[in-house]
Amino acid sequence: MAEVAPVHIRHGSSIGQPLTRRDGLLKVTGRALYAADNHPEGMLHAVMAVSSIAHGRVVALDVAAAKAHPGVVEVMTPSNAPKLARHPDENAEPFTFKLDLLQDDRVRYANQPIAVVIAETLEAATEGALLLRPSYDVERVHIGLDGNKPFKPPLVGVGEPSDARKGDVEAGLAAAEKRIAATYETAAQYHNAMEPHAVVAQWQGDRLILDTPSQGMSMAQGRLAGLFGIAPGNIHVRSPFLGGGFGSKGTIWAPQVLGVMAARLVERPVKLVMRREQMFGPVGHRAPTRQRLRLGAGADGALTAIDHHTLTASSSFDDFFEPSSGVAHTLYASPALSTSYKAVRLDTGTPIFMRAPGEASGSVAMESAIDEMADACGMDPLEFRLKNYADVEPISGKPFSSKALRDCYARGAERVGWSRRPRAPRQMRDESGLLTGLGVGTATFPALMLQAEARAELRADGGAAVEIGAHDMGQGAWTALAQIAADGLGVDIDQLEFRIGDSDLPNGGIAGGSAHTATAGTAIHSASADVIAKLAQLATKDRRSPLFGAGNSGVIARGGRLARRDDESRGERYADILTRAGQAAIEGHGQSGSDPAARERFAMHAHGAVFAEVKVDPALGQIRVSRLVGAFAAGRIINPRLVQSQYFGGMIWGISFALHEHTVMDPKSGRPMNPNFAEYHVPVNADVPSIEAILVEEHDPYVNALGVKGVGEIGITGTAGAIGNAIWHATGVRVREFPITLDKLLGG
Ligand code: MOS
Repeated sequence: MAEVAPVHIRHGSSIGQPLTRRDGLLKVTGRALYAADNHPEGMLHAVMAVSSIAHGRVVALDVAAAKAHPGVVEVMTPSNAPKLARHPDENAEPFTFKLDLLQDDRVRYANQPIAVVIAETLEAATEGALLLRPSYDVERVHIGLDGNKPFKPPLVGVGEPSDARKGDVEAGLAAAEKRIAATYETAAQYHNAMEPHAVVAQWQGDRLILDTPSQGMSMAQGRLAGLFGIAPGNIHVRSPFLGGGFGSKGTIWAPQVLGVMAARLVERPVKLVMRREQMFGPVGHRAPTRQRLRLGAGADGALTAIDHHTLTASSSFDDFFEPSSGVAHTLYASPALSTSYKAVRLDTGTPIFMRAPGEASGSVAMESAIDEMADACGMDPLEFRLKNYADVEPISGKPFSSKALRDCYARGAERVGWSRRPRAPRQMRDESGLLTGLGVGTATFPALMLQAEARAELRADGGAAVEIGAHDMGQGAWTALAQIAADGLGVDIDQLEFRIGDSDLPNGGIAGGSAHTATAGTAIHSASADVIAKLAQLATKDRRSPLFGAGNSGVIARGGRLARRDDESRGERYADILTRAGQAAIEGHGQSGSDPAARERFAMHAHGAVFAEVKVDPALGQIRVSRLVGAFAAGRIINPRLVQSQYFGGMIWGISFALHEHTVMDPKSGRPMNPNFAEYHVPVNADVPSIEAILVEEHDPYVNALGVKGVGEIGITGTAGAIGNAIWHATGVRVREFPITLDKLLGG
């Protein structure tokens, strides 16, 4: 279905170019204002006091001691917190979660906000919070996947059915020549964006102005409107820059809403910034999983059955279930397939989507199991994947762009030198005696399309503007979306006024699901087409124009000028058309979208293959990733420099998933024991080896008008499994509990 075209298609002058970030200079010179950099006149500082227990009630707070502190203005507790128009446990809008907003004294998880101290300075607010010295009624805590009653969640992820099946898995396993059954565990991970959640809130009567990092400004407006009983249009959210989000800034959370409530209580602007350790609780996390994989294969190495069962966890009070078994729907072909879930309820904050939710955790288990199955069949793991990758989406039966996946396997294997890999483990050593191994993992992520709107304008003074309430989380939306806008309008990118990051602009939807470029991009593309069509109408109907009679389809927009398609020398500047028509400006509107008929016919995914080389010290078990090569196909590449950065970021998270990230929970108290960057490990430069991302050419004419697929999350998938498989290849030891640390390797 997909024919290969050059990746760096010159669609216009901007798309396909490796432009540097338009906001880069502002960022490196400290002029990019993040939420917490705002200091409106009269602003106070708010600091949360959070619970040190995970389940029970707050029975006392020494509010008097805190209020006696010079500098403390007010202490917000359940006794004086503003009443809300809607109870925060109502999940009224989509993607909303229950929030703890000081409406009662109960505690549902550690680090839950239990009071807010508001003071003239950050220091006074911090000291005031320490003076509260809470006492609690403590109830029994449930932590961990064991010792709690599992139940079947009705829906998983963002509303997919929890169980699916095709064919007869038990018969497929019984008929198999070789079979494996293995259980893999993944750890709870907490979103640790460089920028913690922060808010600067100002009330002007019934109007609310909010500086806060957001991946979904219009959803934040909707949630706040419901809680405060005001119209969404009365809420102005400004979010020009985010220091990362990873899904945790997709919805607005309790700490930000508490900042808004504090501002209402004291009738002054209030700033509230979360401390790093406070982020391990009220702003989401990736739930732990235990996944059981059973696979069967015939004598020829073709899979006969796949069974993928996930046990995961949600909070005691709300629903989100990590959809790990979903990867079995998208990777390998098998005549029999079943996926299922169970979950337990824990005394933690509610888990939510975290970068590649389900795909990351699920692919770790699936890619490990596929390697174990290949080994059982006596086959090379790449050869086994080439034999078994799905041409059609296993459950839906819709065809994939599987040629792109084949290209990814081939390009990555060649680059990493896969052909030199001995099949048996523990065969390779480097010059210093370290055990060396090579592993592979398949990467996949759906090409989603969400809702967004955009506005485009051309002016008689020669100006051009595009506006959309889109979000730059650091991924480069300021740049990539501007490239789409510039080409859509046929103007030089440096002459384009491009506005995002503000809720007063047309609704840019959500920066999530790796779908922001496709979603906001197609809205921009269609708004630009709309304004150009209107301009062409003006010109082609005007006898004084060289374009008279050319018809809409007969003109092209390029270089700030409309010209006849059959003779580009005949044309005129946009500004001249508008001036002659006596119009100061002309505007167009557009929406995101893709062809529903195409989505009905085809499975739409980005694909990739990741190859890892690891070195393991045979005596100490110390593991280093020495090389990572990823090859990815994700349709049209808007900006190869930014896309490569996205792949690198995802692959580095894959290292993190495989070797580092792990929240240690104390089963007695229910508290996270490592809520800081000293003990919650993420890779630093020294952990990241030579890393390469190959941009594999793919032209997908069905996915959307721009041919764009997402690149944000796919890099994690495949990578963590490839590293685990490389560790097995280096050592002969299969560790099924992630992250893989040296104690597990030596104990194995
Ligand atoms: Mo993401 S987890 O779609 O920000």
